[in-house]
Amino acid sequence: MKKFEGKTVLITGGTSGIGFATAQRFVAEGAMVFITGRRLSELNLGAEQPGENAAGVQGDIGRLPDLDRLFETIREKAGELDILFANAGLGEFASLGQVTEAHFEKVFGVNIK
Ligand SMILES: NC(=O)c1ccc[n+]([C@@H]2O[C@H](COP(=O)([O-])OP(=O)(O)OC[C@H]3O[C@@H](n4cnc5c(N)ncnc54)[C@H](OP(=O)(O)O)[C@@H]3O)[C@@H](O)[C@H]2O)c1
Repeated sequence: MKKFEGKTVLITGGTSGIGFATAQRFVAEGAMVFITGRRLSELNLGAEQPGENAAGVQGDIGRLPDLDRLFETIREKAGELDILFANAGLGEFASLGQVTEAHFEKVFGVNIK
């Protein structure tokens, strides 16, 4: 039996980089993997390459309506979630006088919500 057989995994930001590589490893270990990202074209590629046990859900991880839709999709297709890899993130630095509300919203939206 594979290590993650029967487990459902969500990887935020799974369309490229570390998230995509992790999705491939979880699928190889038997998990059902959901990946998210904003770019639909990359998502299609992502859902195709890790294997048939992967599904892509387009969305921005910093937007609550997208998060609701994401978890609704997982609930419908898999019932429950066993593992979350909160991989999508960013670091953008600005000095105090240059920080805008848009900058704050972007950084906290992606990293915290
Ligand atoms: N690589 C490094 O050396 C390094 C070092 C320290 C920390 N990290 C952290 O490790 C994580 C992965 O790094 P990486 O190098 O693999 O990054 P990457 O190749 O740039 O991939 C980032 C992933 O996150 C997704 N993403 C970004 N913003 C998103 C949003 N608002 N909503 C949904 N998905 C979003 C991107 O998909 P879309 O563009 O399609 O949305 C992409 O799939 C990041 O959190 C990064 O900050 C990386």
